[in-house]
Amino acid sequence: MEPVKVAVIYYSATGNVHALAQAAAEGAEKAGAHVRLRKVAETAPPEAVGSRPEWAAHVRNTADVAEAGHDDLEWADAVLFGTPTRFGNPAGQLRAFIETTGPLWYHGKLADKVYSAFTASNTAHGGQESTLLALSNTFYHWGGIIVPPGYTDPVQLQSGNPYGTSHVAGGGAPSETTLEAARHQARRVVAITAALKAGRAA
Ligand SMILES: Cc1cc2nc3c(=O)[nH]c(=O)nc-3n(C[C@H](O)[C@H](O)[C@H](O)COP(=O)(O)O)c2cc1C
Repeated sequence: MEPVKVAVIYYSATGNVHALAQAAAEGAEKAGAHVRLRKVAETAPPEAVGSRPEWAAHVRNTADVAEAGHDDLEWADAVLFGTPTRFGNPAGQLRAFIETTGPLWYHGKLADKVYSAFTASNTAHGGQESTLLALSNTFYHWGGIIVPPGYTDPVQLQSGNPYGTSHVAGGGAPSETTLEAARHQARRVVAITAALKAGRAA
């Protein structure tokens, strides 16, 4: 069977979600998928980006990451979305990309794919789950198949978020446990998507 195609589409201002996205891409690749790692376009004005040195540095450091487009969504069998938590919701930059997808949705091109999501917030109770659930609202509208990590691997009992890999950025960069949770989430997405593809091909 043709390998599962996974797009990891994310927004990150200061690198935490980018690190999770890289781990998810790695997990999917190791599970045998073809992977596209894509950032969404920055919508904040240059003055805003420049006002925070760590934000400006991250933009420079990820200049070589391709920007997400509709072709990535069409190509993928499964999409993992990553976003910082912003007032308990996905970042506007990711929403801006999602809100360009009306024509794809209208033509049924987003339906029947597998979707999963991960996030970072500054604090432990800062809205990670509300962010992931808010993204899921879109997956329902698209007719997607939501695949959360649940507690399907021992790492989930350490990292502790069945809704999707979540990182508390106030404590520093993602730990190896959190990165492993992202890899596990991606592996699970690949496994479920492969089973769906095989079932559809049969
Ligand atoms: C406008 C704005 C709103 C935010 N809202 C929240 C929030 O509701 N809860 C929280 O814990 N952190 C919040 N944060 C912190 C971000 O979630 C945190 O900086 C982000 O997860 C870091 O990810 P990144 O390094 O990939 O950009 C907010 C940050 C900004 C700029």
